[in-house]
Amino acid sequence: MSSEQDEREARLVERVLASFDGTPDPRLKELLRSLTAHLHAFVRETRLTEAEWQAAIEFLTATGHITDHRRQEFILLSDVLGLSMQTITVNHEAYADATEATVFGPFFVDGSPEIPPGGDIANGAPGEPCWVTGTVRDTDGDPVPGARIEVWEADDDGFYDVQYPDERVAARGHLFSGPDGGYRFWAITPTPYPIPHDGPVGRLLAATGRSPMRASHLHFMVRADGFRTLVTHIFVEGDTRLAGDSVFGVRDSLVKRFTTAPAGTPTPDGRDLGGSTWSQVRFDIVLAPSEL
Ligand code: BEZ
Ligand code: FE
Repeated sequence: MSSEQDEREARLVERVLASFDGTPDPRLKELLRSLTAHLHAFVRETRLTEAEWQAAIEFLTATGHITDHRRQEFILLSDVLGLSMQTITVNHEAYADATEATVFGPFFVDGSPEIPPGGDIANGAPGEPCWVTGTVRDTDGDPVPGARIEVWEADDDGFYDVQYPDERVAARGHLFSGPDGGYRFWAITPTPYPIPHDGPVGRLLAATGRSPMRASHLHFMVRADGFRTLVTHIFVEGDTRLAGDSVFGVRDSLVKRFTTAPAGTPTPDGRDLGGSTWSQVRFDIVLAPSEL
């Protein structure tokens, strides 16, 4: 490229950056200037063709068209580009031994049923029963009683209840940590499932030879006064999809051992499972203070 061409391109970037000089909100100004600089750098570095630019516009248009109150394809796009996970990483620096956060995902629903200690969130969702126990503590190791623990997961067929054709609530619920910070409940053993891939994001994954599958996981959101809300999952040790999670959500510290009990093994709470196999996992949660 001639130096004259290089200068013409650079001058355009400068003019666009200067167009934001009068932005009253300094943070908005910073964000727009940085975004503009990076986008122009991308176009110049890749020598983006007009046909490619048109294809990108069409892709984003399709992403908008498929988005409605039940489906958010832009979040999915952010997820598969690792941007959701990067934003979480930037905003949740490691603090002492506080439990690490990961992606929220699109399947949380407010107003889940409360389950008593030792209760079952499955509510008929197909899957192998899984006994989940742990504690909620602060970074000094003291118990956090009364923490609200929201849990949700896909069933054995890979579906969240919100993907069922009816209004059934299954495989989700909330409970509270006890006076000693302890909690326990029945769920189902997590299994892998694909993120929605019948839209533009699915086409992007297919075009790049990437799998839509998520590593098996159980979602948690833990809230308690005075503590930073924790949005996280636990993953299944040994799951072959841990390294290839489609939304880059896996953190080593969140991979837990789910031990499977042979059929007929008595359960910890004496629940009769009719001779089926079951698993158990322990997840000790450490909350960071809200004021860091
Ligand atoms: C999920 O874990 O439920 C999820 C996360 C990101 C994108 C799609 C699904
Ligand atoms: Fe999920």
